Amino acid sequence: MINVPRGTQDLLPGETEKWQYVEEKFKALCHTYNYHEIRTPIFEHTELFQRGVGDTTDIVQKEMYTFTDRGERSLTLRPEGTASVVRSFVQHKLFGHPTQPTKLFYIGPMFRYERPQQGRMRQFVQFGVEALGSADPAIDAEVIGLAMNLYRSLGLKSLKLVINSLGDVESRNNHRHALVEHFKPHIHEFCSDCQIRLEKNPLRILDCKKDKDHPAMQTAPSILDYLNDESQAYFAQVKSYLDHMGIDYVVDKNLVRGLDYYNHTAFEIMSDADGFGAITTLSGGGRYNGLVEDLGGPETPGIGFALSVERLLMALDAEKIDLPIDQALDGYVVAMGDNAVKKAVEIVYNLRQAGIQVDKDYQGKKFKAQFKAADRLKAKFVIVLGEDELAKQVVSVKDMTTGDQQEIPIASIATEMKQLIQGGKA
Ligand code: HAM
Repeated sequence: MINVPRGTQDLLPGETEKWQYVEEKFKALCHTYNYHEIRTPIFEHTELFQRGVGDTTDIVQKEMYTFTDRGERSLTLRPEGTASVVRSFVQHKLFGHPTQPTKLFYIGPMFRYERPQQGRMRQFVQFGVEALGSADPAIDAEVIGLAMNLYRSLGLKSLKLVINSLGDVESRNNHRHALVEHFKPHIHEFCSDCQIRLEKNPLRILDCKKDKDHPAMQTAPSILDYLNDESQAYFAQVKSYLDHMGIDYVVDKNLVRGLDYYNHTAFEIMSDADGFGAITTLSGGGRYNGLVEDLGGPETPGIGFALSVERLLMALDAEKIDLPIDQALDGYVVAMGDNAVKKAVEIVYNLRQAGIQVDKDYQGKKFKAQFKAADRLKAKFVIVLGEDELAKQVVSVKDMTTGDQQEIPIASIATEMKQLIQGGKA
């Protein structure tokens, strides 16, 4: 037997309906916020993520599914969506469009070679948005608001929004310098990755899982102490908008995020529901004002966030929220007798053409067993066709909720069934 690869999963009927439900919610919300869908390839040139996500990040160093294709090109299954969206924004010169900012959303699988556990998959699906072309703190608040809105509209309550500012280039450079000075005397006590990070990207040290309990971590200089006036004012404005929107948050000066492109606003949304499990981050995002330029476009600010559907559904489970998914079938045609069984094929075809969701038996089941099947499928109406009905050119329709039964002519079955389903009188 061949099973799915480690860290991946099959989604079977029963589960897929939940995915469709949250997808529709997300799409509708994006529509409300005026974000438009973008679809980019599943694989990209490896260089995109090396430059975009950053050479020193865990994602690029350890987690990418990279392969050489038959034309000797190095390609990578996308580990996230932002780099691809920005690549596409630059490639198609979307910055030249009259309507700015460019507000995009995406839904799709991402791939990271991580150690799988609950909520950490090697293939997972992200919902994400990216707003490119505005450095207005109001759009930071908009993106955070959209994320919170999605969770709330699905009924989640135990949410914690954590925000931080990583400052602009000047603030980051000053902070970087302070970090190097701080960690240098202890760096031999840190892991080999951190020793490299000290040179290349000291901020990453703060994100190290191996050294997280080293005392020097607790006393590390905080970016918030190094924000210049402009960065402070920016952060204050974002917070003020969130306050006005009634969105609660906590500031966590240690929130640095695992990708290199961030500056100014960084945020994560966690679940603090009981029984959620070890990994509590539901989504993350932030501002990336240099990324468009890094990927060959004009100077363009950007901000976005992404969540994974896997963790969203885990959060719903943890809060015992059942999505209102209608599993019931509109109608089930029960037929008895050779001629009626044949006629049933035509009847379901006509009903379906009229947009009515119906099914019938395909296993030669007896009358009673067909009724059972209708019951199992939660059919709202059972449409009975026996030899008697056929002779009269009618079907006998039973409303399974009320038990009411009536005959309707086969000739007008689609119109009358529609009325019945919509709750009208036949
Ligand atoms: P990220 O924090 O790497 O950011 O991922 C965002 C979200 O994807 C996480 O909060 C988590 O819900 C989910 N996620 C990440 N890895 C896994 C995994 N292995 N299994 C299940 N879920 C996972 C980004 O990807 C950025 N591109 C977000 C962004 C958009 N920033 C700006 N724009």
